[in-house]
Amino acid sequence: MHITRLRLAEYRNHVSSDIHFSPGVTLFIGPNGQGKTNVVEAIHVLAFGSSHRTHQSAALINQHATTSVVAAELTHQDRTMTVDISLERNGSNRARANGHPIRVRDLPRYLHAVIFSPEDLRIIRDDPDERRGFIDDVISVLWPRLSAVISDYERVLKQRNSLLKSLRSVPRAQRDLSTLAIWDEKIVSLGTEILFARQAGISALHEPVVTAYRNIVGSEHPITLTMRSRVMENVHADASRDLIADKFTVAMIAALEDDLDRGMTSVGPHRDDVDFELNSLPVKGYASQGETWSYALALKLATAELFRHDALGDPIVILDDVFAELDVHRRHNLAASLSSFEQILVTAAVKDDIPPLDIRASFTVSRGIVEKAELT
Ligand SMILES: Nc1ncnc2c1ncn2[C@@H]1O[C@H](COP(=O)(O)OP(=O)(O)O)[C@@H](O)[C@H]1O
Ligand SMILES: [Mg+2]
Repeated sequence: MHITRLRLAEYRNHVSSDIHFSPGVTLFIGPNGQGKTNVVEAIHVLAFGSSHRTHQSAALINQHATTSVVAAELTHQDRTMTVDISLERNGSNRARANGHPIRVRDLPRYLHAVIFSPEDLRIIRDDPDERRGFIDDVISVLWPRLSAVISDYERVLKQRNSLLKSLRSVPRAQRDLSTLAIWDEKIVSLGTEILFARQAGISALHEPVVTAYRNIVGSEHPITLTMRSRVMENVHADASRDLIADKFTVAMIAALEDDLDRGMTSVGPHRDDVDFELNSLPVKGYASQGETWSYALALKLATAELFRHDALGDPIVILDDVFAELDVHRRHNLAASLSSFEQILVTAAVKDDIPPLDIRASFTVSRGIVEKAELT
């Protein structure tokens, strides 16, 4: 698929931008702080319902406005489509597809994008939250109903935690745990779906990550991706849903006293992590800066490869300020690995950082104003 038009109204520093695109490579050039990332971030918001930079959607709305609108026109094969989202400072965000209201969490059904950015290093280096976010984005695209499962799980988890907190003030002997049992059951059934999908997503990523890493660095390296989960301890990667649910139930029972003491749920997919290994060592804490970068790029490349087999075809590939971070060798390899994708959007402060690409259109971005530039 590719975007043919993107409109931003009151989106960050873009008061009103209207950009027409063609397939192939489109370049956005401008000094730092002008609004290049804001353009591609808006596409991420349409693809995932949230920014890759912040979870606070208020930050996306122009500081002088209360509502922001991002709208895109898309083409896939011979079909055209529109998706838009309005972000509200006071109230909930609303999304539409072809003019009809849809849930924000269902946006991944309509627009697929993969964004490469310096923030990708956080997937490897930061808290488990980043890695869960990464794999949950992947499974929400591969299996769209997982978006609903994940948000239901988060809601049920909040309810269970608040019940646990209120039970803390009740003397042990007088605690009625029957309501808790209802939440436990929901946690296990929704959580099992998430664990099963994450496991399947991680398995599906493995080969593409190995290939992508080889393509970026130019040599073969052993790579593993493993889910780290208290529920899945000693459970084989191809375990059935039933087996996962059984293990989950057992783990919940074992953790009950602890959960009641602490007033929070200590087992489940919200506590899990993904272990990334390179050359039989964890990437986090062991790999060099260059290896870590290559690994992060490989994760994103693998994601793009997985998404392209979906019914929507190629995801929109976005390279936000990544070339400046890479040596010449990896710049070339990354560009070569992505050259067959239908649409690639590249942002850079200066053209010199960009490896040879077949650039179809170029825009300058200055103080939130996007202007078509001559190709040189
Ligand atoms: N909510 C907002 N309202 C107005 N301006 C914003 C908002 N959020 C960010 N900005 C401005 O956007 C600019 C950063 O844009 P960005 O796209 O990240 O720059 P770059 O061109 O370096 O990628 C900064 O000048 C920042 O002040
Ligand atoms: Mg930027």
